[in-house]
Amino acid sequence: MKFEDVAFYDQILKYVKRKEKKDFESLSKAAKEWLRISYENKIYYDWTWLGIPIIQTPSDMMIIQELIFRLRPKTLIETGVAHGGSLIFYSSILNLIHGSEYSVIGIEIDFRLHNQRILEKHPLYKNVHVIKGDSTSITTIQKIKDLQPDLSGNVIVVLDSYHGKDHVLKELELYSDFVNVGGYILVCDTVMDILEGIELTDKTVSRYNGPKSAIDEFLEKDTRFVIDENCNKLFISHAYNGFLKKIRD
Ligand SMILES: C[S@@+](CC[C@H](N)C(=O)[O-])C[C@H]1O[C@@H](n2cnc3c(N)ncnc32)[C@H](O)[C@@H]1O
Repeated sequence: MKFEDVAFYDQILKYVKRKEKKDFESLSKAAKEWLRISYENKIYYDWTWLGIPIIQTPSDMMIIQELIFRLRPKTLIETGVAHGGSLIFYSSILNLIHGSEYSVIGIEIDFRLHNQRILEKHPLYKNVHVIKGDSTSITTIQKIKDLQPDLSGNVIVVLDSYHGKDHVLKELELYSDFVNVGGYILVCDTVMDILEGIELTDKTVSRYNGPKSAIDEFLEKDTRFVIDENCNKLFISHAYNGFLKKIRD
């Protein structure tokens, strides 16, 4: 399968009947209400991708799909694997784009045997590598480098492991160098800082102490990245303001 370049497909966008002036205030209000109720009902645990549980909000997956198609990374790195559905999701799109010339690297501190056994039999696991360990340890970073991933193009990094502020900040500092200008870091679960009054599953992460707080502190020091607000377009997102684009070296 061979796709044309992005500009070719973009020609069709002028025929799409998009509404220019949207009611952002109402969209945001309704989204926050839905996010709060869906969070309390743990709807994010109810999804699978090609058979494997993925702990994501489907609207975020749509944005990630758009990003992967546009950027066509040869390497995608994700911290926090859980059952592995997200790795299979990235792999399925990259497989369509690149055939077998890509790699998806996952880092998981607690890669359980039942997940590993099933993933290893999945046809889209071939180009996936899971590194067992703490995402912020120097050994893990070295293991990523040892895999010699192709870092020449638009790398995408997804941070979805422990969501405490200090941990995410450390991940941002460590993984930002894998990304070239044009590439992205996606910081998952900023919803934890944004939604008022939600009960978080992980009691060690509290409002103002989660991924969005880490982003704010990171961006104060690191001006190579900016938040891509276009990725907020549905408002229903667990990664609201979490898509960071690298704009300079
Ligand atoms: C939210 S889940 C990941 C969900 C997965 N990305 C998906 O979309 O299906 C978070 C995972 O991060 C792992 N984790 C927690 N702390 C970690 C750390 N320090 N390093 C690596 N993984 C960690 C947990 O064991 C858990 O499986």
